[in-house]
This record gives sequence, C-alpha cells and structure tokens, in this order.
Amino acid sequence: MSHKVCLITGASSGIGEYLAYEYAKLGYRLVLTGRDQKLDAVKNRCNSRFPKILVQPELVDVNDEQGMKEMINRTLSNSELGRLDVVVANAGYASGGPLEKISVDIYRKQMETNVFGVLHTIYPCLDALKKSKGKLALIGSVNSYLSVPTNSAYSMSKYALRALGEAITYELSPKGVSVSMIYPGFVKSVIRLKDNHGNVVEDKKDFAANLAMPTDKAAKQIARAIERRKKEKIITYHGIVAIYLKRYVPWFVRLLFRFQSKSPKNKIL
Ligand SMILES: NC(=O)c1ccc[n+]([C@@H]2O[C@H](COP(=O)([O-])OP(=O)(O)OC[C@H]3O[C@@H](n4cnc5c(N)ncnc54)[C@H](OP(=O)(O)O)[C@@H]3O)[C@@H](O)[C@H]2O)c1
Repeated sequence: MSHKVCLITGASSGIGEYLAYEYAKLGYRLVLTGRDQKLDAVKNRCNSRFPKILVQPELVDVNDEQGMKEMINRTLSNSELGRLDVVVANAGYASGGPLEKISVDIYRKQMETNVFGVLHTIYPCLDALKKSKGKLALIGSVNSYLSVPTNSAYSMSKYALRALGEAITYELSPKGVSVSMIYPGFVKSVIRLKDNHGNVVEDKKDFAANLAMPTDKAAKQIARAIERRKKEKIITYHGIVAIYLKRYVPWFVRLLFRFQSKSPKNKIL
C-alpha cells in the first residue's frame, strides 16, 4: 500500500480539528474520532480543501474501550485505509476547581477520559503501528509539568500521561514506533469554555484568550514534531518559560502560587 493513514482522537474541534487539516495537507488518509456530529463538518472542510483525501469520521467515546477496539478494527479491515502510520491521542477535557469544592467523581472522570481514554486508543493500534514503524503522539499539557492551584484533577491526568509517554518511548522505540509527547501551553480552543464534565458553558470567558496561540499554528508545530519523531515538544513560548521555571527555579513557582492563593482577589479558592 502506498498511502498513509493518520488516526486522530478528539478531532471534532480545537487542536484535533486543525491537526486533521495539517495531516490532510501532508497527504494522509484520515480517521477522525469524536462524540459529536461536528466531525462531519470537519470532514467537509478537509474535503473542500483537499478533495482527494479520504476522511473517515468515527463517532466513538474514548471511554468506551470496546467501541475504540471496534473502530480501530474497522479501520484496519477497510481496504481503503487498512493501516495506521500516525496515531494522535488528543481527546481530552479540563476539570477545574479547588480540592474542597470538587469531588472524587470529578477526579475519576478526568482520569478516565484523559488517561484511560488514551490507553483505549493505544492498545488496539499497537500491532498496526509496529507493522508500519509508525508514530504515536500523546497530547499532554504544560500541566504535565506544572500542577497549578484549582487545576489538580487536570494536572494529575496530564502528569500521568507524561509518565506513560516516557516509559513507553523506551519500550516501543526498539520496535520502530516513535512516541512524541506534546506539551501545549494555551492554544485557542473551546477547552476553557467547558464545565467539569466537558460541556460548553455559553457565558464562560476564556481567561487565556489574549495569550493563546492560534490553533492552526499550534497544529502545524505539533504535526512537524510528530513527523520528525521528536520525543518532546512544548508548544508556545509561555509554555516553554513555565516549564523552564518549574524545572530550574521551582522555589520561584512555589512563591508565585503561594502569593496567588493568599491574594484576597482570588475568589476561587
Ligand atoms: N487548548 C489548550 O490550551 C490546551 C492546552 C494544553 C493541552 N491541551 C490538550 O489538547 C487536547 C485537545 O484539546 P482542545 O484544546 O483542542 O479542546 P477542545 O476543542 O475541547 O477539543 C477536545 C476534543 O476532544 C474530544 N473529546 C473530549 N472528550 C472525549 C471523549 N470522552 N471521547 C471522545 N472525544 C472526546 C472532543 O470531542 P467531542 O466533545 O465532540 O466528543 C473534542 O474533539 C486535550 O487533550 C487537551 O487537554 C489543550
């Protein structure tokens, strides 16, 4: 087979959607997953820009382990797809709130989607990736390094992804599969407009709107890092600064958050 196939989870909006356009531009056939009919609009936009690219939308929740297996088996037995060269485990959402105002259930659901959803993506793809000597990418976050007040559930899930990615890099590399850990800072998307269950809240404002990188720019950088089989890529300059501070000047970060937590203006805590 001369064609290449890229699977992206969570491609109905944001980073996943723009990664779909990037990979279409690179000539890959696409399998795009999400839980929403918005996927059809993404497919149509892909096809209006790249009419020759085959795009297969798949409505499936990453929490549904069996559904994910079936979707990947369908892809591999489809004669027009039949292989996997790039797999991007991107689907996720961000729960917020201080420990005392959220519940174990919020933590559990966050881990289910952001961590176990990624495992549900990886396992059924493994043989196909080994066969193609393909590329696996996990979308972490700057919060994979920096656990910030009111963000413990999300940070926990993204720290866990970093641990997963680091370990399996060594395991899969001898089998020809590269693992790229992607750590975005603020990127334009609806992620910060959603509630703790991942549903968009109409009147919510994006507190990072002024700092956020345009989604197409972020997707371009992410695709380039995956294609070059980079082990790690931090997206956005503010993300690089934040991770640098956490790694090399942790006392400064502690001071900053202690100050922020004590501020009378901070009504969230
Ligand atoms: N944007 C940022 O600033 C930023 C920063 C750091 C990391 N990230 C990470 O980047 C990834 C993409 O986020 P985004 O910013 O592009 O947010 P987004 O626009 O909200 O996109 C999230 C995508 O994940 C999908 N998704 C969520 N839960 C899912 C589930 N249970 N099953 C299947 N699909 C699911 C959503 O699809 P449906 O809801 O339609 O199913 C949507 O397509 C996430 O992992 C996020 O943590 C984003």
